[in-house]
Amino acid sequence: MRLLITGGAGFIGSNFVRYMLKNHPNYEIVVLDKLTYAGRIENLQEILDIIEFIRGDICNEEDVKKAMKDIDVIINFAAESHVDRSIDTPEPFIKTDVFGTFKLLEACRKYGVEKYVQISTDEVYGSIIKGSFKETDPLDPSSPYSASKAGADLLCKAYYKTYGLPVLITRSSNNYGPFQYPEKLIPVLIIKALHNQFLPIYGDGTNVRDWLYVEDNCSAIDIVLQKGKSGEIYNVGANDEWRNIDVAKLILKELNKPESLITFVEDRPGHDYRYSLDTAKIRDLGWRPRVKFEDGIRKTVRWYVENRWWWEPIT
Ligand SMILES: NC(=O)c1ccc[n+]([C@@H]2O[C@H](COP(=O)([O-])OP(=O)(O)OC[C@H]3O[C@@H](n4cnc5c(N)ncnc54)[C@H](O)[C@@H]3O)[C@@H](O)[C@H]2O)c1
Repeated sequence: MRLLITGGAGFIGSNFVRYMLKNHPNYEIVVLDKLTYAGRIENLQEILDIIEFIRGDICNEEDVKKAMKDIDVIINFAAESHVDRSIDTPEPFIKTDVFGTFKLLEACRKYGVEKYVQISTDEVYGSIIKGSFKETDPLDPSSPYSASKAGADLLCKAYYKTYGLPVLITRSSNNYGPFQYPEKLIPVLIIKALHNQFLPIYGDGTNVRDWLYVEDNCSAIDIVLQKGKSGEIYNVGANDEWRNIDVAKLILKELNKPESLITFVEDRPGHDYRYSLDTAKIRDLGWRPRVKFEDGIRKTVRWYVENRWWWEPIT
């Protein structure tokens, strides 16, 4: 099996490459990544000699053509992924997340693949006060980021219906773990705490997220790849919901720092209050999350403490 992992130098993509090398040593892996600010070759450094790495853009037909040689499966992680950046500058989000997905789907149509897996997000459903979203619920994105991801999901569904392309979609909740770029909540909080700086929390800190350890997401994507049905969407979440303020407190406790470091800052416009997923469908495929949030935070804090070489140059 020869896999093309687009966006494989980013946070989840690079963890997924490592996960697949460990669990499917017979697979050949090609990574196509533009190496934007968020994609870093350092994320793959210890495995670069056993994968094929191509620096290129999913929006560029020639780059995609080069990467597609003899490919059986595409897993598309490539995206602009930071909500705050999408509010400041939406254009790259529309380009990569929507147009880039379109170019990959077109390449699948042209060259043929056994499967195409689109990595999407719970943010496409929007916010929910009570209960959880099912895969069949309508899309109601709030930010340019989540709207561009929703657009990509709809294109994927259309390519399945119109051309019979074997497309599968995973929609996961918030990931955390090693190699996450220090602009996302958890690495920001850990690094600020390590520097004894104020930990910025949006609004009153009561926004709720369901936190998924990145390795659990990798195993979910693998199960969808092995057992999922074409044309289907799979929600992936740990059902481990935490308020942002409690996430900050847990990190401070882990690092033996005072809660007085927490400071509240002006809320993000259109800030979704709560995300929550019904994950019965992927659990029916046999998937279970293995890492509880308290344990995952301990591992993640330790990783940032032990890997200053990775984050110091970019903070
Ligand atoms: N991080 C999360 O909590 C989360 C949750 C749900 C879904 N997702 C989705 O998972 C995927 C990966 O997220 P992440 O957190 O690892 O993101 P990331 O920002 O860390 O990585 C994105 C990667 O895509 C690459 N890239 C960007 N534009 C590209 C282009 N035009 N061509 C080729 N490569 C390009 C970047 O260089 C980077 O390596 C995204 O599609 C995101 O929407 C993320």
